[in-house]
Amino acid sequence: MVETCCLPETRILETPLCVRQLRVKAGARVLLQNITFDVQRGQVLGLIGPSGAGKSTLLRSLNRLNDLVPGLKVEGDVLFHGASIYAPGVDVNALRARIGMLFQQPVIFPASIAENVLFGAKRLRTIDKSERLVVIESALREAALWEEVKDRLKASALTLSVGQQQRLCLARALAVEPEIILMDEPTSALDPRSTQAIEELIVRLKQRHTIVMVTHNIAQARRVTDWLACVCTRDGAGEIVESACCDAMLDNPRCREVIEYLSAQG
Ligand SMILES: Nc1ncnc2c1ncn2[C@@H]1O[C@H](COP(=O)(O)OP(=O)(O)OP(=O)(O)O)[C@@H](O)[C@H]1O
Ligand SMILES: [Mg+2]
Repeated sequence: MVETCCLPETRILETPLCVRQLRVKAGARVLLQNITFDVQRGQVLGLIGPSGAGKSTLLRSLNRLNDLVPGLKVEGDVLFHGASIYAPGVDVNALRARIGMLFQQPVIFPASIAENVLFGAKRLRTIDKSERLVVIESALREAALWEEVKDRLKASALTLSVGQQQRLCLARALAVEPEIILMDEPTSALDPRSTQAIEELIVRLKQRHTIVMVTHNIAQARRVTDWLACVCTRDGAGEIVESACCDAMLDNPRCREVIEYLSAQG
């Protein structure tokens, strides 16, 4: 892997997530191999690369969502604050509360806006009636949706626009107070205005959260990410072929596959 760095050497970095020699197989087929990288606290790490290279599979390996996909086998390790997330006895629900996920399409339950916000948080801990509104308001404010829905919290979440639904999903993820948020093409189903709202949120969220996001949108990567890793297929399996500060990779890619991918993106 080619790695270039443009961070000041004096900056003290904390590393909540370390991926070490990750390999993902589906039966005999290797989907990902030689995946080793760190995610620094307060950083937006972007995963880019051609379709089918393994970005989503990699993202799902970071909070064990691949456990839910029959036939996938994960080898190597992912360390969250130094402890393996794949160790026996790890509480996977607690792990996914600390490493939350936002999908490409909003996943909305046929229930009220308020119930959608509380869905994950209620499964993790008891929330008193008196505390409910505090949790709901705080999560919706953080997701920049409060002003639009504060007068209709009991209305069905299905009445919201797709852009509002995506922010509702973000509020639901934020209500469990995750440290890391994984996002898989979080704006690809959204119109430009909703995309801008989510991008502004991502930039704001990194003050308190660490974010790993997959994007095909290079202009978006430039706007919101600090660091990029490019996943490409080599010998039939996805690998991180280059990793660099966002501007360094986009302005001066070193690796042939990255140059080709970026020029194909225009
Ligand atoms: N459960 C599975 N069983 C077998 N192969 C799988 C499975 N899930 C994914 N794959 C394969 O793994 C490869 C990587 O898929 P993945 O969805 O991670 O790619 P991606 O980089 O996210 O692509 P895109 O940009 O189109 O979303 C693809 O070849 C896909 O067909
Ligand atoms: Mg994908």
